[in-house]
Amino acid sequence: MLKQLTSDDYPLVSNLMSDPVDHEKICGNAFAYPISETQYNDYFVTNAGDKNRRLCFKYSRGGQWLGIANFTHIDRRNDYAHIGIVAIDPSIRGSGYGETMLIELLHKGFDELGFNRIDLVVIESNRGGYQFYTNKIGFTDEGLIRDIIKVNGSYLSWNSLSMLRADWANRVAGGT
Ligand SMILES: CC(C)(COP(=O)(O)OP(=O)(O)OC[C@H]1O[C@@H](n2cnc3c(N)ncnc32)[C@H](O)[C@@H]1OP(=O)(O)O)[C@@H](O)C(=O)NCCC(=O)NCCS
Repeated sequence: MLKQLTSDDYPLVSNLMSDPVDHEKICGNAFAYPISETQYNDYFVTNAGDKNRRLCFKYSRGGQWLGIANFTHIDRRNDYAHIGIVAIDPSIRGSGYGETMLIELLHKGFDELGFNRIDLVVIESNRGGYQFYTNKIGFTDEGLIRDIIKVNGSYLSWNSLSMLRADWANRVAGGT
C-alpha cells in the first residue's frame, strides 16, 4: 500500500537515509547529509501531495512500513513524471519488496495517473540499483549522463532509465 508521507514520517525517512552511502544512492547531493527535518518537510510534505507536481509515498505491507518512493517533476501536458526517490529499509532488502513497491508505484503512475513516460536516474556506481531497475523491473537504459553532479569534490555520472506506457502494458501482459 502506498500512502502519502506526512510530517510525522520524518523519523522513518531519516532512518532510511541514515547510512551515508545509501544517502548518496538515494538522492545524490540533493539533500544535506543527514537530511534535516526542515529539508524533509519542504520536499516530502509542503511541496508534495499535488498530483500535478509531486507525490511522495511510504510503502507498507501487513501494517509494516517498508520503504519510500515518489513522483516528482510531474508534467501533465506531456503525461510525464520522474521518480526522484526510491529506498527500501536496509534490513529487508533483497526480499522482493523493492519490486512490489515499484510495481505498485508504476501501476499508480500509468493506470491511475495516466502518465505515458516515467523516468529516473541511477548513479553509475550503484550497480545493484541499476540491475534492479533494468533486469527486475524492466526499465530501459537511455544512456550515461557524464559528470552531472559534484559530491565531495568529485564529479559523478548517472544512467538515465525510462519506462513508457507501452513497456508497462507489455510487462503486465507478461512480455518481460
Ligand atoms: C534498490 C532497492 C530499492 C531494491 O529493493 P530490494 O527490496 O532490495 O529489491 P528486490 O529484493 O525486489 O530485488 C533485488 C534485486 O535487485 C537487484 N539489487 C538490488 N540491490 C542490489 C545490490 N545492492 N546488489 C546487487 N543487486 C541488487 C538485484 O538484481 C536483485 O536481484 P536478486 O534478488 O535476483 O539478486 C534497494 O536495494 C535500496 O533501497 N537500495 C538503496 C537505495 C537505492 O539504491 N535506491 C535507488 C536509487 S535510484
